[in-house]
Amino acid sequence: MKIQLLSDLHLETEVYVPEPAPGADLLVLAGDVDSSWRGLQLFRDWPVPVLFVPGNHEYDGRDFELARAGLHALAAELGFVLLDNASCVRIDGLGRRVRFVGSTRWSDFDVFGAKERARAMRAASYFQRVMAATRDGLPFDAEAVRTEALRCLDWLTQELALGEVSDAWDATVAITHFAPSLRSADPRYGKQPGTASFCNDDEALFSHARLWLHGHLHCQHNYLFERDGATTRVICNARGHLRKGEPAGFDPQMLIDVFNPTA
Ligand SMILES: [Fe+2]
Ligand SMILES: [Fe+2]
Repeated sequence: MKIQLLSDLHLETEVYVPEPAPGADLLVLAGDVDSSWRGLQLFRDWPVPVLFVPGNHEYDGRDFELARAGLHALAAELGFVLLDNASCVRIDGLGRRVRFVGSTRWSDFDVFGAKERARAMRAASYFQRVMAATRDGLPFDAEAVRTEALRCLDWLTQELALGEVSDAWDATVAITHFAPSLRSADPRYGKQPGTASFCNDDEALFSHARLWLHGHLHCQHNYLFERDGATTRVICNARGHLRKGEPAGFDPQMLIDVFNPTA
């Protein structure tokens, strides 16, 4: 099964026209496609199924619950499979069944350990002010992000614990908008308190997925994580902002083979 992966297109300001990658069985949109949501229309009538995990910017300036309901309605209208703490199984042309487990994930701010959490959350307050979202009439602040992140983590942990392989699927692919490891930190900024707003430490979950796709960092990654005899490939194919040179390593036609991810 071959996946085309796009994220962080930021079509609210970027000029970019997505094109289907020949040979792809499906398209994964790993969030931050367009904070205005208009750019999502470009994927209407896409030739292969579209799996969409919302990014943080899909919530910009909105009430959290209204945005979530709106994204569900828009995904239904556009024919997307919305993976908002949800999973689905797709079957490729060879009859192989792949489970996709998707969650925005948000930040729990514990990537440097609980002792550093307060500092990480102070650094996050800037990003949350810029985001300007609300929940129940209150600012969607770092505390609210952490609450949502822990909810996502609970869900992911339970869903992934069903096994990388089971009677119902032959492989598992995790998709999150936020990164699952500090190894995905943006080398331009390194590891600082603000990095906890981008990366979580979900490495304990890696053995349950052969492939982990993410976005959010405006750089590209493709690395292997090995532990306890299990191997997980982590891939980020974010486009980011042209004015910052971020698309330099972005491959719009990249194909990821679930059963041979190095191919
Ligand atoms: Fe982004
Ligand atoms: Fe993001």
